[in-house]
Amino acid sequence: MIITIDGPAGSGKSAAALQLARKLGIPQLDTGAMYRAVALDALEQHILTDPDRIAQRCRLLSLRFDFSRSPALLLLNDRDVSDLLRQPSVTQVTYVAADNPWVREELVRQQRQIGKEQGSLVTEGRDQGTIVFPGADFKFYLNAHPEERARRRIAQLEAKGIPAELNDVLDQIVKRDMRDQARAVGPLARPDDALDIDTTDLTLDQTVDAMIAVVRVKAPMTAIH
Ligand code: DC
Repeated sequence: MIITIDGPAGSGKSAAALQLARKLGIPQLDTGAMYRAVALDALEQHILTDPDRIAQRCRLLSLRFDFSRSPALLLLNDRDVSDLLRQPSVTQVTYVAADNPWVREELVRQQRQIGKEQGSLVTEGRDQGTIVFPGADFKFYLNAHPEERARRRIAQLEAKGIPAELNDVLDQIVKRDMRDQARAVGPLARPDDALDIDTTDLTLDQTVDAMIAVVRVKAPMTAIH
């Protein structure tokens, strides 16, 4: 069973995908982490302004998920980079990977391969229901008001001891939305056949319950933990 969750930054995708995957007892794939890892590598190699080299390295890098962990651990060339991936310095440059058509081609290929290997997956990103898994069993599109998404981002940053200002974060979120939607290849887009969930006034449990209700109707035999 493949379940895709797409939506903008701060819409609650990651937390919902993780909780849904745990309830269904299947792996969760954080595709944003893959773009972040390619950008982190470009940052470390000082090749941020060289799209050809970023694409070349992307094909040679080893991006491996350890699905025995929940959330799955992403190993970049066998190195645990989980703490680095969400640092603002990496978030700011992730567009060098996300906007690069060759990087997208390679990561889309790897994501489909992971889908084949795992068989079942809750996968979240911007293009999962549109490009990567157009034939997915269930597609959800999450969204929330920008102010609420900014507040959630601040809470995440503060939990890591990173101070943040509402107006700055809101500004970044609006700019990232525009960049994600305007991307020539693999833009943030709502799949035509996705179910919309506005999470602005929903708790995480309510969001996941709404998804489970849909899965139960179409696949009543699914085990839910
Ligand atoms: O979901 P996230 O914030 O970790 O994503 C990081 C960046 O990667 C974000 O700017 C959009 C991009 N991304 C993408 O282009 N396609 C995906 N499938 C996932 C993320």
